[in-house]
Amino acid sequence: MTLFRALRRLALASALLSFAAPACIAQSADALWNNNCISCHGENAQGGNAQSLLDDEWLLGPTDRNLYDAVRDGIVDSGMPAYGETLKDEQIWALVVHLREIRAKDKRARLGSPKPDDAGVFTTQHANFKIERVITDGLDVPWSVDFLPPAAPRGLAHSAMLVTNRPGKLQLWVDGKLSSPVAGTPEVRSKGQGGLMDVAPHPEYAANGWVYLSFSDPDGKSGFTKIVRGRIRADSKDELRWIDEETIFEADHDHYTNGDIHFGSRILFQRQDNTPDGPWMIFFCSGERGVGDLAQRLDRPNGKIYRLHDDGRVPADNPFVGQRNAYEAVWSFGHRNPQGLTFGLDGRLWDTEHGPRGGDELNLIQRGHNYGWPLISFGINYSDAPYKTPWPTADQDFTMPAFVWLPSIAVCGLDTVRPGPDGEAFPAWKGDLVAGGLAGQTVERLRIDGESAAEREELIHGMGRVRDVVTGPDGSIYVVLNQPDHVIRLLPAE
Ligand code: HEC
Repeated sequence: MTLFRALRRLALASALLSFAAPACIAQSADALWNNNCISCHGENAQGGNAQSLLDDEWLLGPTDRNLYDAVRDGIVDSGMPAYGETLKDEQIWALVVHLREIRAKDKRARLGSPKPDDAGVFTTQHANFKIERVITDGLDVPWSVDFLPPAAPRGLAHSAMLVTNRPGKLQLWVDGKLSSPVAGTPEVRSKGQGGLMDVAPHPEYAANGWVYLSFSDPDGKSGFTKIVRGRIRADSKDELRWIDEETIFEADHDHYTNGDIHFGSRILFQRQDNTPDGPWMIFFCSGERGVGDLAQRLDRPNGKIYRLHDDGRVPADNPFVGQRNAYEAVWSFGHRNPQGLTFGLDGRLWDTEHGPRGGDELNLIQRGHNYGWPLISFGINYSDAPYKTPWPTADQDFTMPAFVWLPSIAVCGLDTVRPGPDGEAFPAWKGDLVAGGLAGQTVERLRIDGESAAEREELIHGMGRVRDVVTGPDGSIYVVLNQPDHVIRLLPAE
């Protein structure tokens, strides 16, 4: 008899004997499910001795908290036993994650991916679009795109799109052609999740020519996320050179580590306090480099969102200025691995960050706030073992996410749908967020109401790993894919 069968038989027996929750020694969420729940709800929650948990009809309600409460406290008179006495809180939470995974798998199997009609048109809730393949050749793990603003000087066309490739190449896409790599960009630590990451021109690029880069900076075997700016000089049509480089942010090299994961990083600009003539500020982020506890420490650069003047000076009104040993560039902390950053139309800052298995987050980023990693998390361990519960205790002052992806899509790339200098493509989505997912191979649209996501819609799925999502100058939505290494865009359609 297989272990699975044995567990199932055990669970059945205990369910039949008493309908009381059996004591549990198992560790993985799958084993917890098989031991405790399968006898009534079935292997895939399709039902059996109890109703299906796959439909959207709930006795308590549809939220993660509702599901958690149903399992912990039981549902009186319905036949759902309470597990609060026999399972630990984090085990109960792991079962909610497990149920969400089962439900997502079922939904995908039933509904499939968004599909275009014969004319290539995708129909969605508020707008229709078609897909254009922009770059299909010559890229090597493209990570990010951004656009040079109108009237770009120095021989670079207005329509030029900047593209980073993770192994370290910065290229330009001009008039339908990919340039050779810009010579002289910084050496990167191209290993694991690190390498050349984001690129962003200064909002006043037309006047000052600055382009900002984020990358994993090598020091021997170690590395950490670093931000520089420089200018791109066009020596000739085919010879581009990185010049005038200045360091904007570099962590203390004592804090460089040799791990290969969680570098962040995105770059954004906003005028101070979003006022019309305040000085320009740069926002960027770093992951916790795989060492969760350091995300809570202000004297370590890991797991933070940063804010600096555009030339790298620390703004006097940053939240931890003057605090002993603190990185004064820190704007918020307790982050795991933020790989999406955007300002909404109202100027509020949002991030998307990878949770562990389950628990990718959309957060409203506020000055000095703590986002809780690794002390709370909606995720479980990649091994399927329970980890934490999502909710802080009364003495923990953590800011909760605006939206949580359960299961994870491996969030990467985030932008706000907005009109660009050359026009507006999706007025019906104006102000919505578009979020990419690597493993999820998806782009989702989220509509924000106040401080939470009121609407969620999958726009594309299964076309490749989504590394970046960017609203272009004409309002169309550019998507950077890996496997295949393409750049595509969403254009409005009738
Ligand atoms: C003895 C049978 C039995 C066992 C064992 C059991 N359940 Fe249930 N469960 C039920 C019944 C019956 C309901 C009520 C369903 C309904 O009426 O829609 C229910 C409801 C639920 C609900 C709430 C659905 C809603 O409508 O709000 C969740 C979540 C749930 N079960 C999860 C679990 C999990 C997780 C386990 C294992 C830890 C488990 N159940 C074990 C019988 C069982």
